[in-house]
Amino acid sequence: MRYIKLRDLEVSRIGLGAMGMSHGYTDSGTDEAESIRTLHRALELGVTLIDTAEIYGPYTNEELLARALKGRREQVVLATKFGLVAHSGAGPGNLDSSPANIRTAVEGSLKRLGTDHIDLYYQHRVDPNTPIEETAGAVGELIAQGKVRAFGLSEAGPDTIRRAHAVQPVTAVQSEYSLWTRGIEDRILPVLRELGIGLVPFAPLGHGFLTGQIRSTDGFKEGDFRHGNPRFTGENFQRNLALADEVQAVAAEAGATPAQIALAWLLAQGEDIAPIPGTKRVHRVEENTAADSVQLTAEQLSRLSSLPPAAGETHNEAGRQMLER
Ligand SMILES: NC(=O)c1ccc[n+]([C@@H]2O[C@H](COP(=O)([O-])OP(=O)(O)OC[C@H]3O[C@@H](n4cnc5c(N)ncnc54)[C@H](OP(=O)(O)O)[C@@H]3O)[C@@H](O)[C@H]2O)c1
Repeated sequence: MRYIKLRDLEVSRIGLGAMGMSHGYTDSGTDEAESIRTLHRALELGVTLIDTAEIYGPYTNEELLARALKGRREQVVLATKFGLVAHSGAGPGNLDSSPANIRTAVEGSLKRLGTDHIDLYYQHRVDPNTPIEETAGAVGELIAQGKVRAFGLSEAGPDTIRRAHAVQPVTAVQSEYSLWTRGIEDRILPVLRELGIGLVPFAPLGHGFLTGQIRSTDGFKEGDFRHGNPRFTGENFQRNLALADEVQAVAAEAGATPAQIALAWLLAQGEDIAPIPGTKRVHRVEENTAADSVQLTAEQLSRLSSLPPAAGETHNEAGRQMLER
């Protein structure tokens, strides 16, 4: 495993998203023992960047990480997120990045994670009711107190990134980025590079779609968020299968799996990018982590970069409203 710097924070080039172990997907939360084995295997393979959020569960994903990381905390760059749980009343799913809410949230996350510091603390979504300067200032205070090591944003717009960074340097922005979600390339990536901020692509496997393993949505159980996702619905889904086929064709040529190709393409986009593929299975964390050694030719990279745009938006209407503010 190779390592890169997100600003000053050294992380494995490939991280691990823990969300699906507790939340959002078919069979999330059904096999804790396998999730813990997956986390341990990731560490053995040199993965350091582990991603969670207080909203995952809510709360249970952080608690799972505490159990899994007992005695191994120092091996991990632990990243969690605030701002999608309004602790003063409205609760989970409600935006609140006010300083008071952040001060409450951090204590909860530290307790659940069983640690005295969070390595990378992201705002999960921009809160239109709190000036970003106040949010950045509140995280800056947590950094000064030693409770947080570095500040991150997720799905923030370019002006918000600049304003936040002017108050408290931003170490990383976590946004959706993959072969079928390339919207950040024009508006966000240039700002990150100008300011020296790292990028952590979430859903680098297109929520599993780019692996080619999903040929039908019939197997999605209740509670799987992909049910309401435009790209996994109706005609869009059928049209998008051609994208997965093209990734599969490059994989066959390169002697790798489609998941590895999707990750290798992301890694080829820069030394400031650390994707966090999500899995709750040991064999897949092994497969995904091995993408670090997959070398794509210039021709393969350009073939992948020229894939047609996906059919359908990345989020449903409610989710879309919270993006790039
Ligand atoms: N900041 C944000 O707003 C935000 C939003 C979404 C996610 N995230 C973070 O980003 C992480 C990754 O995103 P994600 O999990 O939604 O999407 P993803 O990484 O693109 O895909 C995860 C899905 O792919 C499957 N999968 C993983 N490896 C595979 C392989 N090699 N072959 C076949 N299938 C494979 C997983 O199933 P199994 O688990 O069953 O293997 C899961 O269903 C999350 O865990 C979370 O930490 C952040």
